Amino acid sequence: MVEHSIYPKDMEMVITTNQVNFYYGPTQALFDISLLIPAKQVTALIGPSGCGKSTFLRCLNRMNDTIPLSRVIGNIFINQKNIYAPGTDVVELRKEVGMVFQKSNPFPKSIFDNVAYGPRIHGEKNHTRLTEIVEQSLRQAAIWDEVKDRLHANAMGLSGGQQQRLCIARALAVGPKSCSWTSRLRPWTQNQPRGSKI
Ligand SMILES: Nc1ncnc2c1ncn2[C@@H]1O[C@H](COP(=O)(O)OP(=O)(O)O)[C@@H](O)[C@H]1O
Ligand SMILES: [Mg+2]
Repeated sequence: MVEHSIYPKDMEMVITTNQVNFYYGPTQALFDISLLIPAKQVTALIGPSGCGKSTFLRCLNRMNDTIPLSRVIGNIFINQKNIYAPGTDVVELRKEVGMVFQKSNPFPKSIFDNVAYGPRIHGEKNHTRLTEIVEQSLRQAAIWDEVKDRLHANAMGLSGGQQQRLCIARALAVGPKSCSWTSRLRPWTQNQPRGSKI
């Protein structure tokens, strides 16, 4: 475990990593990453291009599992559960650990259906409840006012910045315990998503 912490002793941690090493085939991309990430706070990973930020974030919901010959060594605990333990349900894990990519990837569906997609997959069928989730998620991603009058228009018609915020709403809609996104630094002065947590 990480022994020396900059955080107060009683602070709740949502993610703890212990000596994580990651390999793309023979190439090592992460070296002994031991980190504590507090709950209910925003934590930023900042570093030069290619230093491993996205690789690390993909380890947190086991998205790297899909890359042939990749290998992770070390332990990652999310809410005290070892996510690499045998028997871990990765679909359930990815519901809890949301991810938004640098390049936004809306589905070629309506704005409403993009946000409702995750809750529907997880069994939500009630239209009133879906409508509430869609509105709440779009509000949290600070895009509600811009799209509330065209929820049934195709998401591909949104601007790049709006597509990015729609993808944040889509990630928030399944009620993740943590949500990470990768981004180039950009001076976001307004329309900044609020209530986002890693
Ligand atoms: N799918 C992959 N296969 C092989 N190497 C990869 C792959 N993805 C990333 N890498 C390499 O891993 C290193 C870390 O990349 P990445 O995590 O994308 O960095 P960052 O997000 O900090 O820019 C880089 O050297 C990159 O070229
Ligand atoms: Mg990256």
